[in-house]
Amino acid sequence: MDVRQRLEELRQQVRYHNYRYYVLDDPVISDDAYDALYRELQELEAAHPELITPDSPTQRVGGELREEFRAVEHPRPMLSLSNAFKPDELRAWRERFLRLLPEGYPEPAYVVEPKIDGLTVVLHYHDGLFTLGATRGDGYRGEDITPNLRTVKALPLRIPVALLAGEGSEPIAAPARLVVRGEAYMPIDAFEAFNREQEAAGKKTYANPRNTAAGSLRVLDPSITASRPLSLFCYQVVEMQGGPQLTSQWQALDYLRRLGFPVNELNRRFTDFEALVDYCVAWEPVRETLNFETDGLVIKIDDLATQERLGAVGNAPRWAVAYKYPAPEAVTRLKRIVVNVGRTGSLTPAAELEPVRIGGVTVTNATLHNADYIAAHDIREGDMVIVKRAGEVIPQVLGPVLELRPPGTRPWRMPDRCPVCGEPVEHPEGEVAYYCVNAACPAHLVRSIEHFVSRGAMDIEGFGIRQAELFVKLGLVRDVADIYYLTADQLLPLEGFAEKKVANLLAAIEASKSRPPARLLAALGIKGVGVTVAQLLMDHYGSLEALAAASPEEMEQIPGIGPKLAQSVADWFDREPNREIVRKLKAASVRTEAEEAEQAGPQPLTGLTFVITGTLPTMSREQARAFIQAHGGRVTSSVSSKTDYLLAGERAGSKLAKAEKLGVQVIDEAALRQMVGPP
Ligand code: IVH
Repeated sequence: MDVRQRLEELRQQVRYHNYRYYVLDDPVISDDAYDALYRELQELEAAHPELITPDSPTQRVGGELREEFRAVEHPRPMLSLSNAFKPDELRAWRERFLRLLPEGYPEPAYVVEPKIDGLTVVLHYHDGLFTLGATRGDGYRGEDITPNLRTVKALPLRIPVALLAGEGSEPIAAPARLVVRGEAYMPIDAFEAFNREQEAAGKKTYANPRNTAAGSLRVLDPSITASRPLSLFCYQVVEMQGGPQLTSQWQALDYLRRLGFPVNELNRRFTDFEALVDYCVAWEPVRETLNFETDGLVIKIDDLATQERLGAVGNAPRWAVAYKYPAPEAVTRLKRIVVNVGRTGSLTPAAELEPVRIGGVTVTNATLHNADYIAAHDIREGDMVIVKRAGEVIPQVLGPVLELRPPGTRPWRMPDRCPVCGEPVEHPEGEVAYYCVNAACPAHLVRSIEHFVSRGAMDIEGFGIRQAELFVKLGLVRDVADIYYLTADQLLPLEGFAEKKVANLLAAIEASKSRPPARLLAALGIKGVGVTVAQLLMDHYGSLEALAAASPEEMEQIPGIGPKLAQSVADWFDREPNREIVRKLKAASVRTEAEEAEQAGPQPLTGLTFVITGTLPTMSREQARAFIQAHGGRVTSSVSSKTDYLLAGERAGSKLAKAEKLGVQVIDEAALRQMVGPP
């Protein structure tokens, strides 16, 4: 058989079964049968790479790591919703828009949709091909996350999704151009499984599906997104050319569904407003049973012409409203109050709970904030407590149900000694926090190592809290510098450390030696010193050694460094064990000195923020960015009132217009070179 023909056939089938599985959640063949089709497609494509098409289902993950997200202008502003919390507020919403419609205007019909708590995405299709996907951003412009979105299996790379012969509904053509709005999210069961895997692998666990979904999509490496179980619901046609004339939201939803987009099955249409209100009220307990997070319903006027007519106030349409439920709460037993030791030695109390489902997610831990909070609410071990889970944050204990308090409980107190090392705890005057100040405390040490190796710091791949715990327990690592003295001989005998893994870990440790010293400084975990402060200090001093020798008074002269921070840095370097760490790092050839380019002193562009646009005569945009940074400047992606200069080349577009509007100075490449002076 003709290869092309077989390829197209396989693609259709894979696409279709993919659709059955990820969109309809109703597969019609076994996983094995699907895998066999997929594999055949992969093999045939491998043998004929010239025949691979971008919309092939094998081409979801690909592309390179990007440096940054490109800004994308939305075809229409992405509006937000106003809220209603009670039935009367819903009725008031209706009264408000009815007053704006002429006398005798017919009572509109309504569409009610679950409000998905995920990340808004805007999807562009040209001639049926998915060409661009963006985040909501500020509503006017978002970030181009196309390669990441391509990995979301429920998102069609090509529309209409091919239906196989005998599938009932009529064939439908792709519109020439279509822009769709939807919500990417992580199903709750997938989130819980993902978190369990993370935990088992000693990696970071996440607080809730929403943040995990958002975090998974806003990464520069699409292979990370691909490894996350994301899904999608689409609910709005933002723009269309060359499709059927849509006159209502209900029609639009049906059209999206027929093209193969995932559309929520729980969407409903109402012609009787009071029936709608009843539905909204009755729906509250339903959300606990769903496999996606939602904080309410969205009510929309169905008729698009009426929508158009009503328009928006501010950035919220008059034709829609969100009916929101309060953050879900549950009552469960507080088994124990555990005290964790943070990286600065701070002791934070946390609640260990009897597992309880809240808003569809099983919760076993919750924050208790601090000792003052526990005292103020008289929260005791053994109490039945109210736990609340708001979308964005870690679940929190609100307080005890006093009627249910069992006999024999006692008020809780912060222990006098560190629960891990047993050394006395300190409680500085005027501070809420308690600290374990023993730098050799294993808990403290594990946390400092975890921070040291983390992405934002020395970024040592394959090194996480599990490894930190193990190495500390075995005494292989007694301070962060010891990481650079680990040997294959020490690691190979350990369980789970096969040869390959050890080689990778040691290579990752080696690679981290050349990180910019500002990252090293931030990695040390000095109180108050994050990346920004670390960069300020390194710009000024150029090396850890020079910084170690500086007095707090001297540091305070640097703009952005206050007395408390300066003292904290000086105190850190005053401690002999810390000086020893710096010596050991240097002896292991970890970079402690900035290269000249990084060693800003005050450099010509220090303190200036640039945005780059258009095609420059001699440099690529990446080179221009490196050039600006090498001379102390900052580069951001979008023009705002904080932008000092727009570096514009040929074919500059919307950024130029925006800069002109805001009065931001526009320069060309020659002017930039002039600002820096002779090489
Ligand atoms: S309609 C102008 N429908 O909720 C119309 N929004 O503040 C606004 N959302 O981030 C969008 N599910 O993306 C609409 N079924 C749904 C939705 C939905 C979730 C999001 C929306 C925005 C927020 C509204």
